[in-house]
Amino acid sequence: MRLDRFLSNSLRMTRSVACAIIKEKRVKVNGVIIRKKDFKIDEIKDVIEFDDKRVEYRCFVYYILNKPKGVVSARIDNIDKTVVDLIDTDYKISPIGRLDKDTTGLLLLSNDGSLIHALTSPLNDIKKIYLVECDRDLSEEEMFLFENGIEIKDGDDQLFRTKKANIKKIKDYIYEVEISEGKFHQVKRMFNYFNSSVINLRRLKFANIKLDASLNEGEYRELTDAEVILLKRQCNLLDKK
Ligand code: URA
Repeated sequence: MRLDRFLSNSLRMTRSVACAIIKEKRVKVNGVIIRKKDFKIDEIKDVIEFDDKRVEYRCFVYYILNKPKGVVSARIDNIDKTVVDLIDTDYKISPIGRLDKDTTGLLLLSNDGSLIHALTSPLNDIKKIYLVECDRDLSEEEMFLFENGIEIKDGDDQLFRTKKANIKKIKDYIYEVEISEGKFHQVKRMFNYFNSSVINLRRLKFANIKLDASLNEGEYRELTDAEVILLKRQCNLLDKK
């Protein structure tokens, strides 16, 4: 890996700041000051120091993306642009769960396999909140059924009963829905069950992470350390406090 990339990844600094500290002779590789930003290092074996302090390689990265329409929730795709293509990173990240190509909103991505597994395991009942625009309003009775479980098909065309959900009418044709499952087209199929079609779907919350108002569609940022700790606690990868 290039030295400037190692520094920007490990110290969460921009590439230009990484280049600047190299130029200022503040970076050593195996005890020798290096002034070339594209100097190749082995991030596992080499000892890198910045101002004489060892810099450890950061193994895991975590991103929050405001997914736009038209990109698929995959690592690679032969036809469409993927959510991973939108993120400039040196790490081999994957989306945590999926959003349909025409769904927008909060999607987390990481290379931390244990966290990805925990957040997508049905055993952990991770809650997701969606803003739904549909073409037919649901009656009070239909909303009651929506919350208490209906039979719809999953991605393998097998009937299943949805778990308890919450639905709140925001205004005509607009609902906020909370579910703790992530079956194929689940929200769309739940509305279809009541002869209502979903026109727009946006995820607002995943686990305890909310979509930032500051992120426009297509924009992303790294999660803060505090957010990563919250996520890990939520799926019992760290002790709850
Ligand atoms: N439910 C859907 O129908 N689609 C999504 O993208 C997410 C949840």
